[in-house]
Amino acid sequence: MNFAKLCQTARDLVAPGKGILAADESSGTIQKRFDSISVPSTADNRRDYRELLFTTPGVEEAISGVILYDETLRQESSSGKRLAEVLADRNIIPGIKVDAGAKPLAGCPGESVTEGLDGLADRLAEYASLGARFAKWRAVIDIGDTLPSAHCIEVNAHALARYAALCQEYDLVPIVEPEVLMDGDNGIERCEEVTTDVLHATYHQLHLQGVKLEGTLLKPNMVLPAKQSGETATPEEVADASLRAYYRSVPAAVPGIVFLSGGQSPEEATLNLNAMNALGSHPWELSFSYGRALQQPVLQAWLGEADNGLTAQEAFHTVALANHQGRDGTYEAGQGGIPQGCHGQPPGPVRHIRACHGGCVSRTGNPPHKANDRALTRSFALCASWHCRVQASLRTCTNTSSWPRCWLSCHDMNPTTSAAVASGLSKNSRVPGKSPTSLLLNTLSIRAWLSSSLARSCSRVRPWPAPARASSVVPILPL
Ligand code: 13P
Repeated sequence: MNFAKLCQTARDLVAPGKGILAADESSGTIQKRFDSISVPSTADNRRDYRELLFTTPGVEEAISGVILYDETLRQESSSGKRLAEVLADRNIIPGIKVDAGAKPLAGCPGESVTEGLDGLADRLAEYASLGARFAKWRAVIDIGDTLPSAHCIEVNAHALARYAALCQEYDLVPIVEPEVLMDGDNGIERCEEVTTDVLHATYHQLHLQGVKLEGTLLKPNMVLPAKQSGETATPEEVADASLRAYYRSVPAAVPGIVFLSGGQSPEEATLNLNAMNALGSHPWELSFSYGRALQQPVLQAWLGEADNGLTAQEAFHTVALANHQGRDGTYEAGQGGIPQGCHGQPPGPVRHIRACHGGCVSRTGNPPHKANDRALTRSFALCASWHCRVQASLRTCTNTSSWPRCWLSCHDMNPTTSAAVASGLSKNSRVPGKSPTSLLLNTLSIRAWLSSSLARSCSRVRPWPAPARASSVVPILPL
């Protein structure tokens, strides 16, 4: 076991602003996801969809790692490179789901135990040779009138610890995932109580089995009222109850807690993460390892059509960047969601675009839009995503909050323009280095490109008011 390597990988997975994409749906689960958008679950469709996710420009600012399924770890992209290498080339760490799923637990009706320990050592050795650097094992705990039983909690904790200890032997960081489901009718207090019990049992077993906590990550549920409870909880209430459970049971040696989304909407998951981080710093990084909350908007934008690839990538970029903001408690409601009901609508004609540049635009402001016009709303979603991308690029360039942000606001745009803007931004958002000159050049090239591209392809471009305050870092040139 290389302890230093394990610790470094674990820390890299929860680097500031970053989190994990869970794209490890088993064949059965991805079939369900594809059924929801009427796309057949063929190997090619699965490859195309995942390649779309993994090659989304700029997403490496928010995504540190991706959990893969066995098939995906071995699959080649359309360019002939293995998908795991496509990720690694972008500095995104490939990981692998290694459990064999939750199976009925003998003697405990309605409960399950996760299987997959048989032959695990050999599989881990092979996965490591295929480029995986971390792993995931999910245990499932149901809440019911008499559930969970102490036995169910115990056997799942024991299996999680056996898996984690084995992973570390092969220098794979184990993500330990004891998920308390939110499917029942219990309130938030009961979820807090069960989550605390489950985490206690899990850390007890990890300790007994000699797992080095510094080289692990925890992937728990947030503490929430169950779906059928009729209760709602504000992000602040979720943050309070969740943090109380973790503070009482998760050792500070664990570098990060990476949440599953567990059936929350993308917006809920982001707001709840944000609320926890807004409360200040904690002993562990609080980050995300979402499946559905990152992928739902992407699936709805993609619909299995190659022509929707760019829009789907924009959707992924938007939701990833929203969670990037949730990592430091700066996300504001409504900035990361793709408006409901507007996916797959043909974009309308070009109307006008306004570009704001050089000014420090408040991130609380929304570009003006007519929310009840479906085509316009769809454009607004794209627009919000460009806003994030430009903003993020400039932030990466300068690493200073005083740097003026570039903000695009559009009311509508045709597909050619959308494609041009998106691909131009992607090309120009690479940061070649961190010297002041390269930062300045990079920033200026983004601006110059935006200026000429927008002027060429839009019916009207006009600057917003001049900046209230110039940057003290480097001179800002007007577009
Ligand atoms: P969800 O975020 O959809 O809950 O999935 C995360 C995951 O990896 C479940 O094992």
